[in-house]
Amino acid sequence: MKLPLFAAAAAGLANAASLPVERAEAEVASVAADLIVRALPNAPDGYTPTNVTCPSTRPTIRDASGISTNETEWLKVRRNATLTPMKDLLSRLNLTGFDTTSYINQHSSNISNIPNIAIAASGGGYRALTNGAGALKAFDSRSDNATNSGQLGGLLQAATYVSGLSGGSWLVGSMFVNNFSSIGELQASEKVWRFDKSLLEGPNFDHIQIVSTVEYWKDITEEVDGKADAGFNTSFTDYWGRALSYQLVNASDDKGGPDYTWSSIALMDDFKNGQYPMPIVVADGRNPGEVIIETNATVYEVNPWEFGSFDPSVYAFAPLQYLGSRFENGAIPDNGTCVRGFDNAGFIMGSSSTLFNQFLLQINSTSIPTILKDAFTDILEDLGERNDDIAVYSPNPFSGYRDSSEDYATAKDLDVVDGGEDGENIPLHPLIQPERAVDVIFAIDSSADTDYYWPNGTSLVATYERSLEPTIANGTSFPAVPDQNTFVNLGLNSRPTFFGCDPKNISGTAPLVIYLPNSPYTYDSNFSTFKLTYSDEERDSVITNGWNVVTRGNGTVDDNFSSCVACAILQRSTYRTNTSLPDICTTCFNDYCWNGTTNSTTPGAYEPSVLIATSGAMKTVLDYSVLAVAMGVAAFML
Ligand SMILES: *[C@@H]1O[C@H](CO)[C@@H](O)[C@H](O)[C@H]1NC(C)=O
Ligand SMILES: *[C@@H]1O[C@H](CO)[C@@H](O)[C@H](O)[C@H]1NC(C)=O
Ligand SMILES: *[C@@H]1O[C@H](CO)[C@@H](O)[C@H](O)[C@H]1NC(C)=O
Ligand SMILES: *[C@@H]1O[C@H](CO)[C@@H](O)[C@H](O)[C@H]1NC(C)=O
Ligand SMILES: *[C@@H]1O[C@H](CO)[C@@H](O)[C@H](O)[C@H]1NC(C)=O
Ligand SMILES: *[C@@H]1O[C@H](CO)[C@@H](O)[C@H](O)[C@H]1NC(C)=O
Ligand SMILES: *[C@@H]1O[C@H](CO)[C@@H](O)[C@H](O)[C@H]1NC(C)=O
Ligand SMILES: *[C@@H]1O[C@H](CO)[C@@H](O)[C@H](O)[C@H]1NC(C)=O
Ligand SMILES: *[C@@H]1O[C@H](CO)[C@@H](O)[C@H](O)[C@H]1NC(C)=O
Ligand SMILES: *[C@@H]1O[C@H](CO)[C@@H](O)[C@H](O)[C@H]1NC(C)=O
Ligand SMILES: *[C@@H]1O[C@H](CO)[C@@H](O)[C@H](O)[C@H]1NC(C)=O
Ligand SMILES: *[C@@H]1O[C@H](CO)[C@@H](O)[C@H](O)[C@H]1NC(C)=O
Repeated sequence: MKLPLFAAAAAGLANAASLPVERAEAEVASVAADLIVRALPNAPDGYTPTNVTCPSTRPTIRDASGISTNETEWLKVRRNATLTPMKDLLSRLNLTGFDTTSYINQHSSNISNIPNIAIAASGGGYRALTNGAGALKAFDSRSDNATNSGQLGGLLQAATYVSGLSGGSWLVGSMFVNNFSSIGELQASEKVWRFDKSLLEGPNFDHIQIVSTVEYWKDITEEVDGKADAGFNTSFTDYWGRALSYQLVNASDDKGGPDYTWSSIALMDDFKNGQYPMPIVVADGRNPGEVIIETNATVYEVNPWEFGSFDPSVYAFAPLQYLGSRFENGAIPDNGTCVRGFDNAGFIMGSSSTLFNQFLLQINSTSIPTILKDAFTDILEDLGERNDDIAVYSPNPFSGYRDSSEDYATAKDLDVVDGGEDGENIPLHPLIQPERAVDVIFAIDSSADTDYYWPNGTSLVATYERSLEPTIANGTSFPAVPDQNTFVNLGLNSRPTFFGCDPKNISGTAPLVIYLPNSPYTYDSNFSTFKLTYSDEERDSVITNGWNVVTRGNGTVDDNFSSCVACAILQRSTYRTNTSLPDICTTCFNDYCWNGTTNSTTPGAYEPSVLIATSGAMKTVLDYSVLAVAMGVAAFML
């Protein structure tokens, strides 16, 4: 597995490096203000996890039989705060024959009857970041034109959860670590999302205080050294997470916020007041030497308060803020100290995307001075073979917690890897936990399943199959989905498709899934997963295409679509309250719900072409087909 990935990385980089560097003017220059407020730089000593005095109630590990008290308390505030945005959204979606405002008002006294909405952004490198960004931009009432009639703006304001995995975690992290920045603000920023410069070479130095690639890597190396010197195991992922942060975290020191923690999201006033949804990042567990088997991999989540897993192998959560402390049997011993600062925001995003950190091996092909290359090579060699593509969570917070034969109870370190390695490239796992009672998931799929890097339902198939294994499913259910051939033959991967429309057909309780596969509406958004640089024009064109994917080209492909989204949002809620949906929903469910039909014959090559012609939207011609061979196994996983 390592070799094809390495080859793919090399090929991807060579290809990316040969791209003409077009710095088109940002289309979004009208959004003038740079990002000002952001999550908190509250780590005690920059990137170095540090001993601190324990709080009077010492932190403990808890079992995963429910959601945390913190989340339960926050939900009371957040769910109430979604009522007004939800009424605004539904009234714009033109659900003829149904008074959505009266309906929500009538049921708001029992919040569990109100639609509970989640959004999931898949992995797939920068393609996933940008395509997912288009979706979130269309869902955001702050975006220009997003609240016109028939648009989906306000969905983000009405949602309870937003999950991200790998490239999708870079998107979710960019938004939430920067204090819920809008996509337009991130596009217009001079400091973040400058993808025209590879993170191997460092940011665009015109705009920031550090002056060169040498200084950039020197800073990163010092930070990772600091963590190692304090006695923490480090891996490639520490470098990777630091480098990512320079592109994603807008810190005032211009150094990617070495002291910005993921847990600080929970301390932001707007978050505490329920003004925006709860972000969740997904990663997988992998024991040393283990090959991940999709049906039993451990799926971790990182939310603003906790790190852990609902899966039977771990079935526990640790307080995120105190990760790095030496927990034994679920508690920090009396003679032990509390540690803070381990949950660096970039490290969390890096953990979800470890498949990419092999890029660091390409440091030699950059223009940095030899002396630095040599130093870096030494460091990478010191890290050794075993640490090639993992994030080390050490000490293992779950050590001795569960009296079981599980490796996770005895391992000194937890090895955490890319969330897509189990084939579930859309981070649905946290959203199908029965305790969260999600009604509808907007599942944004930017995977590169097919030869030409389009999704074909592979991720949904993986999640569905897992739900059929009673031991690992552990109480979760998922709507039935067909095989990938059917996805392609019936076009379920080239337009939005709803799964689980009829709750009576599902064993157990599962959300309705609105599958939103990346497809070319106005732009060929199927860039290679391993493309490391994007001109502003490429970035913004994929974002606009992503907007068009989730709105069906602002309704130009089907002017009923927004009404159909309203039907899907309300389906579970009206089922619970025994309320009939209007006639349009019958048409909608006929048009958008998978009805159980399959056609499993092997399709020909899937080569969709741009649906809505616009002038000047054609992307630079790139032949990625050569890469397809090299990528082999790696591409399959993304
Ligand atoms: C989480 O809940 C605990 C216990 O109720 C509380 O002490 C802590 O302050 C909460 N954390 C945050 C970030 O609100
Ligand atoms: C619910 O939200 C409304 C409107 O935002 C607010 O006025 C009210 O105080 C909230 N109620 C609770 C219990 O939080
Ligand atoms: C709302 O839907 C009705 C019937 O489906 C249609 O006649 C009307 O034009 C739509 N209005 C808007 C603003 O799309
Ligand atoms: C908003 O819509 C108007 C009318 O279609 C269009 O001219 C304008 O460019 C749009 N704005 C953005 C930011 O897309
Ligand atoms: C998954 O199953 C394989 C094969 O039975 C086993 O080697 C591996 O340890 C299992 N992983 C977990 C996390 O249970
Ligand atoms: C704490 O006490 C335990 C048991 O006595 C011992 O094994 C351990 O080394 C001690 N840890 C420290 C940091 O002193
Ligand atoms: C932190 O505390 C542990 C024991 O709890 C100790 O072994 C370690 O040396 C301390 N680290 C620093 C940097 O003081
Ligand atoms: C970089 O090149 C040097 C000299 O060719 C080589 O020894 C080293 O292993 C390379 N480093 C990496 C990370 O590939
Ligand atoms: C779907 O994607 C999977 C994973 O890359 C691939 O193995 C399979 O051949 C694809 N099938 C179709 C019909 O595209
Ligand atoms: C989930 O797994 C845990 C740990 O094995 C177990 O205690 C719990 O009962 C399981 N839950 C369900 C609903 O099966
Ligand atoms: C849909 O609206 C958005 C926002 O105004 C715009 O950027 C996009 O180009 C529109 N799409 C089409 C197909 O007109
Ligand atoms: C189910 O959907 C397929 C197309 O996806 C269609 O051809 C078929 O007629 C539908 N069947 C029913 C019973 O509606």
